[in-house]
Amino acid sequence: MLPRLRILQVGDVHLARTAKLGLKLDEKDRRFPLELRNRMAGGPIKTVFRRLHQFLEQDDFAFLLFMGDLAEQGDLNGFRACVRYLAEALQLGKGRRFEALKVGIVPGNHDIDRVLAAKPSYTTKFTPLQQAMTNAGLPLLPVDKPIWLDHQKGPCRIDVALLNSCWGCGSPEYIPEEFRDEIVKAINSALTKGVDEKATRSYYDRQLDTPAFSKNTVQGLVEGASKLPGGSLIIACAHHNILPQRLPRLAPYTELVNSGAIRSELSKLGRPVLYLHGHIHEDPVEIIQTSAGAPLVCISAPEASEGFNVVEIVFTPAGLPLSCYIEPWRFAESGVFAAMQRQVIPIGAGRRRPPNAVVVAIYQQIIAEQSCFWGDMMSCAQKAGATHAADATEEALELLTADQLVTIEHHELGREHWLVRSRL
Ligand SMILES: [Fe+2]
Repeated sequence: MLPRLRILQVGDVHLARTAKLGLKLDEKDRRFPLELRNRMAGGPIKTVFRRLHQFLEQDDFAFLLFMGDLAEQGDLNGFRACVRYLAEALQLGKGRRFEALKVGIVPGNHDIDRVLAAKPSYTTKFTPLQQAMTNAGLPLLPVDKPIWLDHQKGPCRIDVALLNSCWGCGSPEYIPEEFRDEIVKAINSALTKGVDEKATRSYYDRQLDTPAFSKNTVQGLVEGASKLPGGSLIIACAHHNILPQRLPRLAPYTELVNSGAIRSELSKLGRPVLYLHGHIHEDPVEIIQTSAGAPLVCISAPEASEGFNVVEIVFTPAGLPLSCYIEPWRFAESGVFAAMQRQVIPIGAGRRRPPNAVVVAIYQQIIAEQSCFWGDMMSCAQKAGATHAADATEEALELLTADQLVTIEHHELGREHWLVRSRL
């Protein structure tokens, strides 16, 4: 098998709200006893976390990454409760079963208490959040600079940069000076009326809170990346999206104030980068093809009560990242929680050796036959002179998939079950 590393990406948890959700049940017949309905319904967030726990038991994951928004509307007690829930339900952090697992959590705009955010220092609003993390035995959140985590297996390496996109949240400094006082006064007056819950919801959901990365975060990302070994795959991870989303939003600050700064710096690195985020409660995968030739792949996780993503990176035997498989775990209409159709994104463009005789022979056979089974391609590799036919065949097929020349069906079942089709 070609070397691969797997990552779990979990979106916004919003535990205080999602813990109350029931599964969608067809409840036309009200005569069913309440107890039976409750038992069938079982909360979706519990189902999702049970599956995450099973994954951690069965497999070796390089990272478990949470995209922030653990709380609702800046409720600190909700944040503390969610952090404890993560640690206990998944057995993470100091003294627990998966203590050694590399866990990354970034703050979300809903984790920021607005009263604390209005205090003079930018960091004050993160103090109770960090305290909650420490109390639960979990690693700290990134605040003014990136937190780097790395994982190495043989020649393959991933470096994760945890970034705080909420540095600006609730801090008036990002509102233009000429309007600042008036806007802050207007927000305060709307929020302190107390009776108007709609204003608070609107404040947290429509980002009138000016989300932004700090200067040190952007600087730290660039400097940190420049010191990494060339073959390592960089994964940047923050709560907010860096591309505007499909739902048009009428708000003074609809998106991250300086998302362009991060996007531009990541694009200039000349190496593939994955940017993982949450926030939008949807799950698009968007690719920015940069002029330096390497893609910037933006992967969003849905709200955690809807599922999570398994991101698998396939490397060449020499340890260069080749392709990225995204496997969404979601609820089907029937309520069953399962893996959905995988998506493959080529990330190795231009950074590997030219195709050898085995790749050419296998591709010729696929074009001639249109679709081929594993066994046929193995004999083809043997005829072309491969010494380790199975590994050579797998590498050839991953290369051809990464170049979008073929598609592999049943990829998740293991290579013996692969059916490969030409995309011509
Ligand atoms: Fe959220």
